Order: sequence, then structure tokens, then C-alpha cells
Amino acid sequence: MKDVTIDTITQAFLNYCSEDTDPRTYTVLKSMVEHLHAFVKETELTHDEWMRGLQFMFEAGQISTQERNEFVLASDVTGLSSLVDMIGSQHEGTSSSVLGPFHVTGAPELPVGGDLKRDNEGNTVVIEGHVKTVDGAPIKDAVIELWQTATNGLYSNQDEAQPEYNLRCSMKVGEDGRYAITTVKPSPYKIPDDGPVGDLLRATGRNAWRPSHLHFIVVADGYRSLVTEVFSSDDEYLDTDAVFGVRDDLIMEYKETTDMDALPTDLEVGTNVTSPYYKVDFDFVLVPTEAS
Ligand code: BEZ
Ligand code: FE
Repeated sequence: MKDVTIDTITQAFLNYCSEDTDPRTYTVLKSMVEHLHAFVKETELTHDEWMRGLQFMFEAGQISTQERNEFVLASDVTGLSSLVDMIGSQHEGTSSSVLGPFHVTGAPELPVGGDLKRDNEGNTVVIEGHVKTVDGAPIKDAVIELWQTATNGLYSNQDEAQPEYNLRCSMKVGEDGRYAITTVKPSPYKIPDDGPVGDLLRATGRNAWRPSHLHFIVVADGYRSLVTEVFSSDDEYLDTDAVFGVRDDLIMEYKETTDMDALPTDLEVGTNVTSPYYKVDFDFVLVPTEAS
């Protein structure tokens, strides 16, 4: 197209592209460029602002490593990750939530009732529940992975003072789909804000805090794998999660109790828990693979 104008440039772009090579790529790219052009027109984006955006992406690339992906973080804080996630998982099972950058593979296996708290300081949490179908039937071959921060708000791979795999485990559920773990109450923490995403948060007066949570991945043959988080109902950051991960069904009451009779009978630590402790009951509902 020779005479490109403000009004014709979007169509000019589309004229260059063929729908036949890959129809889905065409659909996604068409919509994205249409929205980008509309955004530039609507805001009358200046040259300096456009350059600032490109500089943001350059800096995100510069700070990214195998362990730190600033683009994923940018997607998280703009709600893109959660939006894609919610659109892709509209079903009756437990809601999914962001994976986050602190998951590592190879966490040690604990038996049902196992002790994840070990030498960690903090309030004891006893969490138990079942992995089940939408109809309530147990899913007996499920494996649960759990990872969380220590009381100082840091994951083991952020904190040299913690042993490798501290507060990380996998657990194969029993015949009845049941799991039970003793651990520590997680703490709220700030997402990494020393890079361009931190600048973005500060530029709009936002906070970098995430409400305290336990991360879970639940996997079972024939079911959609679930990546999710469980939040504490008393957390001050529930309504302002920097990455939009909170869903109604993922908010749990951490019930403070001194009742030792309420402890599950199969805990590795027996009744040797500090009192008061917190009890959390949480079931994971998985949907069959074909429902995705
Ligand atoms: C996390 O919960 O570990 C997390 C999620 C998204 C961004 C940063 C951290
Ligand atoms: Fe986290």
C-alpha cells in the first residue's frame, strides 16, 4: 500500500497477511494489531511514551534469566495471566490460579499425614481434605504438590538460610483420596519489584504484595491437572493481590484451635503440635480431561 494514513494503516497491515498459512495465528494477530492500533489512536500515544514502552520490554529482557522471567511477571501484574487462566478453565472444579516463579521440580515425597513444618518457626497449620470428582467420588491415584513461603515470606529458592526443598513436598493421596499435612502458616510477601515490573507498579501507585497462600499442583490420570493456591480468609491483602490470583472458592478459614482431639490421628507428629494451631479443611475437585 503506497498511501498509508492513520485511517488505512490497520487494513494495510491485514492486507499483508494471509489467513491461509495458519488461520488461528491470523485471527489472534489480527485482533491484537487492531486493538494495538486502536489503543494508540485512543490515547494519542506520543513518541516518548511509545519509546518508554519499548524500553520497558528491553529492560524486561535484560533482567530475565532461566530463573526469572520478567515478561511472565508483567503478564501477572496486568491481569493477563489470570484472565487467560480463567477463560481456559470455566468448569465446576476447583478454580485454578497463578503458578508463580517459585515452583521447582523434584520436591521430596511425604506420606499422608507427613510433617512439612519440621524445624520451621511459625504457627502450625494442619491442612487436610480430599481429592475428588465433581460428584464427590474420591480420586485415589492423585498426587499433590505443595510449596510455600517460610514465615519470613521467602521461598527456599530465594533464601540461602533455608535448606533445599524446605516447605516443598509431593504427596500421593490414600485410597479414599485423602491427604493431610502439618506445615507453617505462610506469610504475605512482595513479588520481585526490583526490575521494570516494579517500576510499572510504582508508576501507578500500586503495591507489590500478595496475600499469604499455599501453592498446589494436583495431578491425576484422566483429569485436568490443577495449578492453584489456597488463601487465608484473614489476610489483609486479599482484595489487593498484585497478580489477581484470588478466587472465592480458594479462600479458606484458618481455624485457630487448642483442641488436640480435633487433630487427625495419622499425623507424623502425632499430637506434638504447638497450641494453638490452625486447622484448614480444603478439598480439591478435579474435572475429567475431556471437560477441558
Ligand atoms: C507466587 O505466588 O509465587 C507469585 C505469583 C506471581 C508472581 C510472583 C509470585
Ligand atoms: Fe507464591
